[in-house]
Formats: sequence, structure tokens, C-alpha cells
Amino acid sequence: NKIVLAYSGGLDTSAIIPWLKETYQCEVVAFAADVGQGDDELEGLQQKAIASGASECHIVDLKEEFVRDYIYPTITTGAVYEGEYLLGTSMARPVIAKAQVEVARKVGADALSHGCTGKGNDQVRFESAFAALAPDLKVIAPWREWDMVSREDLLDYLAKRDIPTTASATKIYSRDANAWHISHEGGELEDPWQEPSKEVWTMTVDPEDAPDTPERVTLSFKEGKLTHVNDEALTPYQALVKLNTLAAAHGVGRIDIVENRLVGMKSRGCYETPGGTVMLAAYKALETMILDKASLKYREQLALEFSHVMYDGRWFTPLNDALLAGAASFAKKITGDIVVKLYKGQATVTQRRSPNSLYSEDFATFGADDVYDQKHAEGFIRLFSLSSRIDTLKKQQ
Ligand code: ARG
Ligand code: SIN
Repeated sequence: NKIVLAYSGGLDTSAIIPWLKETYQCEVVAFAADVGQGDDELEGLQQKAIASGASECHIVDLKEEFVRDYIYPTITTGAVYEGEYLLGTSMARPVIAKAQVEVARKVGADALSHGCTGKGNDQVRFESAFAALAPDLKVIAPWREWDMVSREDLLDYLAKRDIPTTASATKIYSRDANAWHISHEGGELEDPWQEPSKEVWTMTVDPEDAPDTPERVTLSFKEGKLTHVNDEALTPYQALVKLNTLAAAHGVGRIDIVENRLVGMKSRGCYETPGGTVMLAAYKALETMILDKASLKYREQLALEFSHVMYDGRWFTPLNDALLAGAASFAKKITGDIVVKLYKGQATVTQRRSPNSLYSEDFATFGADDVYDQKHAEGFIRLFSLSSRIDTLKKQQ
């Protein structure tokens, strides 16, 4: 039998390879997804996997697919988990799981494995995707089975087997990076009364050290998709990379939150989502020009619902399809340009225009106009408040 493991090259998954081979007497195929986490994580991965005992290592480039088919649709829903988290880790799981299943089919594997702990969200996200895409494959989650608990245990395990590793006994933070974001958990962050040290942040400049002059960036959307940044035509992934560079230099996109995990516990995390913060602010600003009041209200409800669908790993479900279809219908109208000013950790929308805009200076002006008859408001208010009037009149009788 053969197991395909979602492999990152870190200490955990390096130990998982020999552990799977010994425990299940099987062949292990390593699978790594390139979701834009950066070259330092991907460098030498192939050799590392083989050195740990994998029979093959498949590295699949998912960067464009991730941004185009998972991030962009999520933006059109407006989803933000618990008001703050831009769902960076959550969005990457379904695209990774899907590619992992494809590798499993290609090599004729009968099981899938991952390095998520039994305390987190990621195990649920991976395994829910596996359940939907490959219910026939067995799932093995070593962290829920073995009795190793610390990095020392894992290093020991590898040393006993003469498997080389560059990992050290102390690694302070648990991080997860991709094109959209990086997350930081663990270490001193486990104490919610402890301010994050400077070493936590890796993707963005400290807003306190950011340039004293603001920078403006223009985002152009067509039917809900970001097509140009500063008038340059870019693919979804390229656009995100460009926005990351611009926004990170100004310290944009840091958050420090306590969140509810799906498995019940609260956790404290710091997140950096520079380009995504700008993209989402621009998208929402454009929506406010285009969507009427009732549509925007419904889109907001959709965002709340979708934030939980995404966070909870329910991508491959009919509810997900329905919500995305609803969001796509609104997104068809979202065309136009937004200017965002980047300055000391803030991304502020300063200019907006759209061919589909419902905004009309003729109507909105506080000066004289000849399109709006203020007398019409009287009848509107009388009917709009009629039930209150009737209610009180009856009580007065
Ligand atoms: N708490 C975040 C989430 O659930 C980030 C999880 C980070 N995952 C990781 N394997 N380090 O989406
Ligand atoms: C993990 O437990 O593997 C990471 C954190 C999470 O999944 O929420």
C-alpha cells in the first residue's frame, strides 16, 4: 500500500514519513503544494523528502489556481471571519487537498496523510475535503495517533534513524504562509496579555518604521476580478504579489486577534495580509458605489455565512456552491477603479469610479438640484412609518 502525505519539509512532516513507513509498512509519496509560500520553504524540498524516506516527491504549482479559483471568489463574498481574519490559511486548504487527491489517484495510493495536530482547524479542513473528493481513501493523522509531543521527541525520532534535519529544538512560532498571508501562533502569543514581539512579524514593515510619505495605488476591477494594478495588466497571482510588495512596505495588513476555532477552543494569532487587505478594501469600496441598499445588505449577510463556510472547511459542499453563485451574480456588476492610499499601516480608499455606479452627484448634492423633488419625501415617510402611526393612534384611543 501507498500513502500520499501533504509534506512541507518542516520537522513534523519529516518525522511523519518514517513513522508512516514503520507503522503501516507502506510506501510514502510526498506531496507539496506551491501556494506562494516562498522559495525558501520550497528549496531543496525534493531531496529532503527523499532523505526522509519518501519514494517520490511531487511539487505542484497551485499559485494561479489558488488566487483565481479560491481567493477571488472569496473576495466577491466579502467574507471576513469574526470581523477580522481574512481567512488566509482556510482558503489554501481546499486547493491543496484537491491537488493531493489528484496525486493519490495518479500514483494509485490507498491513503492520505497530513501533519495537522488534533487540536486545530486544519485537520477538519483537509479531511472534510478528502471526504468529499475521495471517500474511498483512508486518512491517517499521525498527530492524533503517535505519542510524541514535543520537538525534542521528533528530533530524537529522526536521530535514531539517522535521518538528517536542519530543524532545531526551539522553534518559537507555528506559522503558515502562502501568497495571501502568513499566520503566527504559539510562543508568547499564547498569553493574550502579552504584546507580540517584533520578531513575530515577517511579511510587513513595522508601521512605526514605515515611510513618512504615503503611496497611492490604483486597482481596476472588471466583473468582480482585479485586472490591473496601477494600469498594469496582471494575472490574479501577479496582482496579489504586486500588492503585497506595495502594501508590506507601508506596514499594511497586520492583525492580532483571539478567534474561535471550530473545535471549540479559542486561540490567539497574529496575521499579515498586506495585499489582501488592500484588495478587499478596494473591492468593498467599489461595491458601495454599485450595489443598491437591499443588494448590499444581502451581500453582507452572505459574507457572514460564507466566512464560516470557509473557516470551517466546508468548501466542497452544496452550501458553498450556492453562496458562491449568489456572490458571483453581484460580482458581475463590480467594474471600476479604486485608489487606495497606503500610509503607516493604513489602507484608505480615497478615489472611486465605476461605469455601473448608482452614485449621482445630481441627486446627492447639498446644493440646488433639479432632479429630486423634496416634496416627494413627505408621502414616502408617511407610508414608511404608517404602521407606527397606526399603533400609537390605537393606543391613544
Ligand atoms: N488559526 C488560523 C486558521 O485556522 C491559522 C491556522 C494556521 N495553521 C497552521 N498550520 N499553522 O485558519
Ligand atoms: C494545527 O493544529 O495543525 C494548526 C492550527 C490549526 O489547524 O488551527
